[in-house]
Amino acid sequence: MSQNTFSEFFSQIYAERWPKLLAALQAKPRQEGLNPFGCADEPYFLDAASIVAARALPISPGHAVLDLCAAPGGKSLVLAERIKDAGTLVANERSATRRARLKRVLEEYLPEELLRRVRITGHDASKWCIYEKDAYDAILLDAPCSSERHLIAQPKLLAEWTPNRTRFLAQRQYAMLASALQVVRVDGHVLYATCSISPFENDGVIEKLIKKRGEKISVIPPSAPFGESTRYGWLILPDTTEFGPLYFALIKREC
Ligand SMILES: C[S@@+](CC[C@H](N)C(=O)[O-])C[C@H]1O[C@@H](n2cnc3c(N)ncnc32)[C@H](O)[C@@H]1O
Repeated sequence: MSQNTFSEFFSQIYAERWPKLLAALQAKPRQEGLNPFGCADEPYFLDAASIVAARALPISPGHAVLDLCAAPGGKSLVLAERIKDAGTLVANERSATRRARLKRVLEEYLPEELLRRVRITGHDASKWCIYEKDAYDAILLDAPCSSERHLIAQPKLLAEWTPNRTRFLAQRQYAMLASALQVVRVDGHVLYATCSISPFENDGVIEKLIKKRGEKISVIPPSAPFGESTRYGWLILPDTTEFGPLYFALIKREC
């Protein structure tokens, strides 16, 4: 496989938009600085699309919040802002090395009082529902994905890419999302997000959820200051916005 295979696959999806989108994915991403509590010396830099996505999860003071795939921690900082006066945050990350980085980020950017209400865990997001159910008001699932922006920058990985990769990742993402919907409380929300441009990993995962569990959930049409709506969610792409890629969809558990 080669960059041609990759480009052929995505030019079928994005048609005449693809050359400009590919060029935007190869350019340096624009980042925003975040220092929500002013306790760090330097801001934490992340894509503004990530801030927009994390803010799309409905959270009220006092809520129990779970960030299922949290490292390195940018979106956890955004979630933590929302529970600054009351509430709890569990920041989960399965990889030990990435979890250590998550811990450093949270310790650097969150004030001590808030840190006491934050717990860092290291579980497999897709199996969480075996151990805990109906336990959180709001869950962020920022799922591991194809991350094409990073892929394009690594010729060896790009050479190994096949369309099966995105289909395989979509299955893993679905397993995590199905688990999250048992872990969130009735009337609670799950925000599903990826940094993939592949419809299989984005609307495709939500479509499967609707087919399999449609009677238990509702998909709430999101909106954001920039980006575009998709069939089920919201997509921020760098050819039109300078930010992203970032896809998100908001799901409410109904029963
Ligand atoms: C897209 S990144 C998360 C980025 C993070 N939310 C942020 O804003 O900084 C996905 C993360 O999920 C982790 N991960 C992969 N498989 C996982 C699993 N089964 N359970 C929990 N975390 C997992 C990866 O190690 C990676 O750190």
